[in-house]
Amino acid sequence: MDINVLKTTAQAMVAPSKGILAADESTKTIQKRLEKIGVQSNPETNLAYRQMLFTTLGVEEFISGVILYDETIRQSIDGQPVPQYLQSKGILPGIKVDKGAVDMANFPGEKITEGLDGLRDRLAEYKELGAKFAKWRAVIAIGAGIPSDTCIESNAESLAQYAVLCQEQDIVPIVEPEVLMDGGHDLARCQEVTKKTLKAVFAKLTAHKAILEGMILKPNMVISGKESTVKAIASEIAKATVETFKEVVPAEVPGIVFLSGGQSPDEATENLAEINKIGGPWQLSYSYGRALQDEALTTWVGKEESVPTAQQAFYDRAQKVSQARSIKSV
Ligand code: 13P
Repeated sequence: MDINVLKTTAQAMVAPSKGILAADESTKTIQKRLEKIGVQSNPETNLAYRQMLFTTLGVEEFISGVILYDETIRQSIDGQPVPQYLQSKGILPGIKVDKGAVDMANFPGEKITEGLDGLRDRLAEYKELGAKFAKWRAVIAIGAGIPSDTCIESNAESLAQYAVLCQEQDIVPIVEPEVLMDGGHDLARCQEVTKKTLKAVFAKLTAHKAILEGMILKPNMVISGKESTVKAIASEIAKATVETFKEVVPAEVPGIVFLSGGQSPDEATENLAEINKIGGPWQLSYSYGRALQDEALTTWVGKEESVPTAQQAFYDRAQKVSQARSIKSV
């Protein structure tokens, strides 16, 4: 393990004005996204869509890294393997390494993420293929009587085991404990669950001797549930988010990159701007999937002639999110 490589990569992932594009939708998720625009998902159409995003001129001003899915990291753009293509643009290739969240035995409504078995060997292969960082997503649902301590602890343990296996091979782990927006809970409940989850995650990371300077945290914002009748506004979301993180996220962590988690592109942009107005000891940036892609996806609709306008939509959104991330604290 080379701590300097880890630190340098982690810092590059959250370099000023930049954040990450999450384009690591699983086979099932990309199928859902493409279906919505009337395109049948297969390896070729998946690549056509992602190629439209990756080849957007100048987007590297705003995108430091792209999280790829196993299918994509093995594909090529104009005869060049995707990781090498991205690197030639100055974008770091990353890879989703978890195998998805499945129902947790004995805990109805809760999930545990799989993928630790054989992970060391898979990471070695991804490193060969050019991956500089990785992602593992754990999901924590809020509901009546959930999340349970067992669910939080088990997912935190897996995240920590994943993180140190990545670091062993100089791959920066993105540690993603996502408290879901689904449900009618309010901001205070999300804050309570997020705090508890992050506490557990950092306790496990410390127990497993993870290098905090060589990782990136990818959390949810502290936000009211999608079905909540009391919708928190951006300044409240920002205040609760930064307040919570200051309590539980060590300052050694170089960057926090938020997921968008079902927020609209405008909401995810506005909330990030408000968060940066408050600021903290870490870089506060983005690793958005839907919020960066939605407008480009619905403009593209699978048509070759729509590529330029879809790329413009992607560029414009990436620029707006980058501007939000660059606002200085006041
Ligand atoms: P969203 O921004 O669409 O939530 O996706 C980010 C991600 O990578 C979730 O794992």
